[in-house]
Amino acid sequence: MSLTTEAGAPVADNQNSETAGVGGPVLVQDQHLIEKLAHFNRERVPERVVHARGAGAYGTFTLTADVTRWTRAAFLSEAGKQTETFLRFSTVAGNLGSADAVRDPRGFALRFYTEDGNYDLVGNNTPVFFIKDAIKFPDFIHTQKRDPYTGSQEADNVWDFWGLSPESTHQVTWLFGDRGIPASYRHMNGYGSHTYQWSNEAGEVFWVKYHFKTDQGIRNLTAAEAETLAGKDPDSHQRDLREAIERGEFPRWTVQVQIMPAADAATYRFNPFDLTKVWPHEDYPPVEIGTLELNRNPENVFAEVEQAAFSPANFVPGIGPSPDKMLQGRLFAYGDAHRYRVGINAGQLPVNRPHAATARTYGRDGVLYDGRHGGAKNYEPNSFDGPKETGRPLWQPVTVTGPTGDHPAPAHAEDDDFVQAGNLYRLMSEEERERLITNLAGNLAGVTREDIAARAIGNFRRADEDYGKRLEAAVQALRG
Ligand code: HEM
Repeated sequence: MSLTTEAGAPVADNQNSETAGVGGPVLVQDQHLIEKLAHFNRERVPERVVHARGAGAYGTFTLTADVTRWTRAAFLSEAGKQTETFLRFSTVAGNLGSADAVRDPRGFALRFYTEDGNYDLVGNNTPVFFIKDAIKFPDFIHTQKRDPYTGSQEADNVWDFWGLSPESTHQVTWLFGDRGIPASYRHMNGYGSHTYQWSNEAGEVFWVKYHFKTDQGIRNLTAAEAETLAGKDPDSHQRDLREAIERGEFPRWTVQVQIMPAADAATYRFNPFDLTKVWPHEDYPPVEIGTLELNRNPENVFAEVEQAAFSPANFVPGIGPSPDKMLQGRLFAYGDAHRYRVGINAGQLPVNRPHAATARTYGRDGVLYDGRHGGAKNYEPNSFDGPKETGRPLWQPVTVTGPTGDHPAPAHAEDDDFVQAGNLYRLMSEEERERLITNLAGNLAGVTREDIAARAIGNFRRADEDYGKRLEAAVQALRG
């Protein structure tokens, strides 16, 4: 079998470029050389602006319960039904080549290839997030990424933002606790994090939160273990996932949902659409609905993982967004990122196109269009039997009141920025609190400005007096 150029012509020599005479300069007529160098220069698509570092695998979601009283989603129609999935795990702040074993939330981006098109649930391994309005996201991420002057991540920026954004106290407590550095992607939970809308055949609305509980058991690394592992094996999580699947040890998660009837939302003690809050299980007990298993590695990491384009805006009939202001911002951001990062035809790539449905749009052409529509009409309405709208929205409308304006999300009876952070702290054992304080203090001690450290500590004090006091003492001890 002969090597060829991209145009299919046989290549005579792949070791020596063509020169004018022996020892002379290289000739432009060496098309194979030019093509090879040019392709190499264009090998990368831009890495994701966040969650650049990750690994993925295909799998199967099996529904084990009857959920038809809550949603009409076709892939959730009957216990026993199976749906192909693709899941990409990631870290958030690091670049594409960064180490896996770091303190950072993990992405848990799950695609269901359903008969009604792809449903993407783009979550994390944490049930909450640092902020509650998408307008703050670029600023937040700037503090997690490289400083424009030093080119490194700076504790000053991180703690300045968190201190000035007290709504982050809950997620920061989570992040610096034991679960802040999972031992692997297999040994952590996943969460949809946001509240989503389910609606049934009769049009009744329910608000839901998704939980994916690892069947492998939770396993974490200490800060010291992670530091060693990150240096010795930067690809630790990626390798662990691939090798487990190669061994036939398919990782599994038990899938649960918390379900809130629509009528409860207005008077619930917390704003149910506030991403910095959980719904305590005593209020809405998790209901088990299925299992998720990962059982197939991608064949080509670039094609299937790097070019995977998940979007929280990919819904299917019976599932829709909530008015969570973060989620609303995300509905725009991901499609926009894909158009920039992978291109307008990103949806045609094998990992991104629907597998159990057919995409039938009048969107056409653009860079790398594959001509899939043949000679079919490219406008609608038409009288040529082209695809038509269904007239039935995927989700149910939400009633709104009042004037437009830059409104913060409304606070419910027990909402403030600290109550759930304090509850999380008080739930921890003494040993867990000890490790939390050590982890936080180690990081906070790197802050160069007293006022930034003091403001950040003040937030923890407001969550719990003891929490703040111990942290302050630990930071002072480290600073000498
Ligand atoms: C308003 C806030 C947010 C914005 C604007 C935002 C934006 C983005 C963007 C632009 C990407 C890169 C997408 C790509 O290039 O393919 C991304 C990736 C990601 N985001 Fe967000 N994000 C936000 C909040 C969140 C939250 C709250 C979560 C989890 C609960 C989350 C989870 C993820 C995950 C898992 C990925 C990686 C997806 C993949 O594996 O391809 N993001 N985000």
